Amino acid sequence: VIGFIGLPRSEVPVIRPTVNSDVDELISIATGTAAFKPFEIEVLRELLEDYLAKNEDGHVAVTLELGGKIVGFAYFAPTPMTDRCWHLYWIFVMKVNQARGLGSVLLKYVEDEILAAEGRLLLIETSGVASYEPTRQFYLKHGYEWAATIRDFYTDGDDQIIFRKRLH
Ligand SMILES: CC(C)(COP(=O)(O)OP(=O)(O)OC[C@H]1O[C@@H](n2cnc3c(N)ncnc32)[C@H](O)[C@@H]1OP(=O)(O)O)[C@@H](O)C(=O)NCCC(=O)NCCS
Repeated sequence: VIGFIGLPRSEVPVIRPTVNSDVDELISIATGTAAFKPFEIEVLRELLEDYLAKNEDGHVAVTLELGGKIVGFAYFAPTPMTDRCWHLYWIFVMKVNQARGLGSVLLKYVEDEILAAEGRLLLIETSGVASYEPTRQFYLKHGYEWAATIRDFYTDGDDQIIFRKRLH
């Protein structure tokens, strides 16, 4: 249990491995954030199904619960062909529960797990569009460096931003 010490039990966030029965709720929560395009939601479903069918290569999916209800998700993995570099591929919190510190709890958990696995570097790729400004602020607030901008990566006018944090 990842604690918010002093809070009633129902308000203590819990992070646990993602299981098959989470998938539909996670898809619905991801859709509800309005942060992801329909094809990205499809990719998320495929990724979850593949991960749950045969987890390989040290990938990790975790579900965040509050008061017994699913409210968030993170997915991270070692980056192939690198020396202990990791990528955080997905992180989201249910829209109505955003800005309450839950994303920070998830991100800290991810960093601690990667540190425990002797990870050296954590990279996060995100979008440069205006609607992602709160997301970019979230990473900057947590000590991530704006390491690169690849202009027009996702499509014309939608840059890829790569955030980087040294863990070890
Ligand atoms: C990004 C995200 C995971 C952060 O989780 P969170 O629980 O909202 O974040 P926290 O409460 O721990 O941190 C809040 C800080 O993050 C930023 N932030 C990010 N999203 C925010 C939102 N929707 N509302 C308010 N602040 C937000 C702000 O800088 C805020 O700092 P402040 O409280 O000093 O203003 C979550 O907002 C989310 O799911 N967003 C949509 C999906 C997304 O963008 N995922 C990342 C794709 S790369």
